[in-house]
Amino acid sequence: MAVGIDDIALFIPRLFVDSADFAMARGLDPAKLKQGLGISKMAIVDTNQDPACLAANACLKLMQRNNLSPHEVGRLYVATESALDESKALNSYVIGMLEQVYGDGSFEHCGGIECKFACVSGSYALYDNANWIRAGESEGKYAIVVVSDIAKYDMGSSGEYTQGAGAIAMLLNDNPRLMQFDPKVTSTSIKNEYDFYRPFGKETPIVHGQYSNLLYLIQVKKAFEAYKKKALETGLIKIRDGETILDHIDYLCMHLPYSNMGKKALSYLLRREWRNLPRWKRIIEQTGMEEPVPKDPRGTIESILADEEYMAKDHEFTKLFTRTKEYQAFYEDKLASSLIASSMIGNLYTASLYLGFRSCLEFEFQKGVDLEGKRFGFGSYGSGSSAMVFSGIIQPTYKEIVKNMNLEAEIGERIKLSLHDYEEIHENRRAPSQSLLDPKNEFVLVGIENSPESKGERKYAFCQ
Ligand code: HMG
Repeated sequence: MAVGIDDIALFIPRLFVDSADFAMARGLDPAKLKQGLGISKMAIVDTNQDPACLAANACLKLMQRNNLSPHEVGRLYVATESALDESKALNSYVIGMLEQVYGDGSFEHCGGIECKFACVSGSYALYDNANWIRAGESEGKYAIVVVSDIAKYDMGSSGEYTQGAGAIAMLLNDNPRLMQFDPKVTSTSIKNEYDFYRPFGKETPIVHGQYSNLLYLIQVKKAFEAYKKKALETGLIKIRDGETILDHIDYLCMHLPYSNMGKKALSYLLRREWRNLPRWKRIIEQTGMEEPVPKDPRGTIESILADEEYMAKDHEFTKLFTRTKEYQAFYEDKLASSLIASSMIGNLYTASLYLGFRSCLEFEFQKGVDLEGKRFGFGSYGSGSSAMVFSGIIQPTYKEIVKNMNLEAEIGERIKLSLHDYEEIHENRRAPSQSLLDPKNEFVLVGIENSPESKGERKYAFCQ
C-alpha cells in the first residue's frame, strides 16, 4: 500500500537572535558560528509560546490549508523532548487548543500519544502511524504527526549557540501527494548512552558536545548499514560494480542540530562508502594525503576523541576530502538545499530533520529541478541514543504542495531580539502576559495555575 506524507506545515516563532550579535556578546568570533557551524539566526519563543502551542499552531495550519475537519483525522501524535508534564501528553494540550476552533469534543474519536526519544521520536511516530495505515486500521482517515520542540541550553554554554524552536505537522495517508515511504527498508540502531540528556525537573540538557557529534555519526552509520542490507535484499535498490547505494539516493536529509552537522554526516558516510570503490584513488590523488587511522581502530568513542594526533589528522583529511570534486558535486546535488532553513532557524530537535526535508523541497523546486520520482533518504538521530534511516519517493502530484512553499512568508515578519531581551526570555524573567509580540491568528499560552489543587494547569487562547 502507498503510504506517505501528503502535506507538511510549519510554525516557527518570529523572534530570533542574530548569530553575529550573539557571538559578539559572548566574546566569540562570529565566523565560528556562521562558517564553523552554519548558524546565522536562532528562532526564540516569545514569553507566551510553549511547545504545545507551537504544535497546535502547526497543526491548525495543516488542517486549514487542507480544509480538513476533525472527523477526517483518526490519529494525532506529538513527538517532543520538551514535554510539559510527566503524565499528561502534549497531544492532549494540542487537542484542547484545536477544539477551541473546531468545537468541544470534535476530536474525541481521535487517538494518539506523546512520543519521546530525543530528536528521533518524530521518525518513530511517522513509522508507527504509517504502519497503522498500512495495517488497514485507519478507515480512510488521516494521521497527523506533529514534531515540536524548544532547543534551549544553559546560558554561556557551548550549546547555547545551537538553540532554536518550532513545530512541523505532517499529514499521512494512503494516497500521499508529496512522498511515499519505501516499504520494508526502515532501519534503526539503539544504545544506552549519555551524550545529551535532560534529567527530571531540569529545563536545559546536560551535553557532552564532541562525544554527541561522534556518536550521532556512528549511530546513523549503523542504521544506514541495516538500511543498505534491506534495500539490496528487497531489490528496492540495485547497484552495479563500483557503485554505492548512495548513488541511487537523489537527496539526503539528515538530523540537523546545526546546519554544518549535515556536512559532517555526509563526509562521514561518503568516506566509508567510497573508500573501497575505484573512485577512491582519484579522491586520494586530490587530497594528497592518505586517510588516517586511529591508534586503536576498535576503540571507544572516548579513546578516539582522546587520540589527539588522529583527531587532528582526521580533521585535516576531512577538510581536504570535502574540497574534492566528487564530494562537492554530491554535496551540491544532494544535500545543500536541505541545510538552508536550519541556518536561518536553528535546532528544532524532533522537527530539525523535517525542516531539512521542507527546505530541500522548496529550494530545489525554486532551482527548477523536477522532483518527481526522486528518492529522498533520511538520517534521523536522537541522543540517548537511537538512529533511524528510511527513504521515500516524491509523487507525481508533489507540485500541488511544493509550489506554494515559501519559508520566509510562512514564518512571517521576523523580529530581531536584543541580547538583553533574549536573556530576559531565556532566564524566564517575564510572564506569559509580557510577550514582545502581539499574536495574530495563533494559539498562545495565557497562564499557568499555581494553586496547590491545580498546579501546572495551562490555559491557552486563540488570538484572532
Ligand atoms: P564547540 O566547542 O563550539 O565546537 O561545540 P568547536 O570548537 O569544534 O567548533 C565548531 C566548529 O567551528 C568547528 O568546525 C571549528 O573548526 C569551527 P569543524 O572543524 O568541526 O568543521 N570554528 C571556526 N570556524 C571559522 N572561524 C572560526 C572558528 N572557530 C572554530 N574562528 C558543539 C560545538 C556542536 C559540540 C556544541 O555547540 C554543542 O555541544 N551543541 C549541543 C549538542 C549538539 O548539537 N550535538 C550535535 C550532535 S548530537 C544531536 O544532534 C542530538 C541533539 O539534537 C539532541 C537530541 O537528540 O535530542 C543535540
